Amino acid sequence: MHRFGIQTKITLPFVLLFTVIIFVIPIVTISLFDRKYDEQFSLETREWLEAIVRTNYIYEPEKVKRAYRAEVVVFGQDGTINSSTITDQTNQALPHLATNLKFHQIQKRLKDESGDEFILKNVTVADKPYKVIYYLQPYGRLYCLMRPIDKIAEAKRQAISLMIGVAGSGALLVIFISYLIGKNLSSPISNLVAFTNRVAGGNLDIQCEVTTQDEIGNLTAAFNQMTVDLRNSRDELIQVERLATAGKMAASFAHEIRNPLSSMRMLTQMLRKPSLTEAKRHQSQQYILEEIERIDLIVKGLMDFAKPEELKLEKYDLQRVLREIASLMEANLQHHKISLIESYDSAVGPVLFDYDKIKQVIINLLLNAMAAQPSDGEIEISTEKNGDQVCMCVSDNGTGIPPSDLERVFEPFFTTKLEGTGLGLANSKRIIDQHGGEMRIESILGQGTKVTIEIPIKANASQA
Ligand SMILES: Nc1ncnc2c1ncn2[C@@H]1O[C@H](COP(=O)(O)OP(=O)(O)OP(=O)(O)O)[C@@H](O)[C@H]1O
Ligand SMILES: [Mg+2]
Repeated sequence: MHRFGIQTKITLPFVLLFTVIIFVIPIVTISLFDRKYDEQFSLETREWLEAIVRTNYIYEPEKVKRAYRAEVVVFGQDGTINSSTITDQTNQALPHLATNLKFHQIQKRLKDESGDEFILKNVTVADKPYKVIYYLQPYGRLYCLMRPIDKIAEAKRQAISLMIGVAGSGALLVIFISYLIGKNLSSPISNLVAFTNRVAGGNLDIQCEVTTQDEIGNLTAAFNQMTVDLRNSRDELIQVERLATAGKMAASFAHEIRNPLSSMRMLTQMLRKPSLTEAKRHQSQQYILEEIERIDLIVKGLMDFAKPEELKLEKYDLQRVLREIASLMEANLQHHKISLIESYDSAVGPVLFDYDKIKQVIINLLLNAMAAQPSDGEIEISTEKNGDQVCMCVSDNGTGIPPSDLERVFEPFFTTKLEGTGLGLANSKRIIDQHGGEMRIESILGQGTKVTIEIPIKANASQA
């Protein structure tokens, strides 16, 4: 029963119940009526025969035939026909009359059973049904009064056909009405189920239309209220999280720029000293400039993270873009004696992405991989088509990341480098998220790191 829908569960019992009622009631009625009619008919036939015996009509079969519209057949003791009113039309039955009317069997029964003066039987003669009443006359003769019952049988047949027609139409009507009732009940539930699925999928900005004023309507209204509450608490949570992130970022930012600022302060104080040599002054000014550049870098990275620009999506040959980046990095890689292995999946066609942003991501990953490499190391960059996604991997056999740091590498300002801003991976992840993709990092300390990026190809789809 579990695999049936609610509509079937509601309608099926009704359909079954009504169908049974619709068919059973007429069948029972017809058979009861048939039995009663047969009893009445038999009683009447018996009374007729009694009257025929009483009035001596028993010796005048033709008169009986005219008066009662019934046939009379009289058998002699040995089963030969003494007299018969059966007409020419049916006289082909005459030779078999004794057999058809079960002469021997009836004669024996009437002779044997004391007190049973008449026997009533339904018999078919020449394809015509009769109610036959048998009466044993003196000298073993058997008198048979045959009342045709073909009209009754025909009426019964018609009644049964009519009943089947009416019951069939009734059953169809019940199915149709049950279907309407079931649909009426189940469609608000189906709507509600579709609505809850959308809510479960994360869309909290919708409301389900309340179409009925019953329990389902109340349930829908309750769901709507629940969605509103959920949306409010989600918004509140986002707000709280935003504030927390902003606080955390402000603290990290303050921490990050405190070092260059304090060294700038020191250097500026030094510049005030009159005893300072020209060379030292020049060097201090150079340091101050470097620190300013570092602050500038941190501010730029932070702005990128805090207020990402809108993507400029276009179709690109990913393989060509990656090759371009690789040749851009070639000199740097050669300098560190690091070899770059490129393996691209030729099945990847044009991919929709923001050229500058993806380039920024890949360069950051290559720089990270290089920073983690001793010289003579190896970095691999690869692509792979994965359904409607393209997978890019940058892996190295460098120092790896300790598990405690691995959870934090996407946090803004998390860095283990002296010169790092700690915004590289945070920004990269943000960019990949903006592309509707996913970025993962796996690392084994002492063995290496693998960063996987998955973005939708979408090149043939509209730029939603
Ligand atoms: N391939 C890698 N191998 C080992 N550690 C890595 C790797 N990639 C990232 N990390 C670790 O993750 C930290 C954060 O990386 P992220 O790119 O966000 O910032 P960063 O490289 O430190 O600074 P920036 O990108 O501004 O130069 C790094 O400091 C480093 O400790
Ligand atoms: Mg980096």
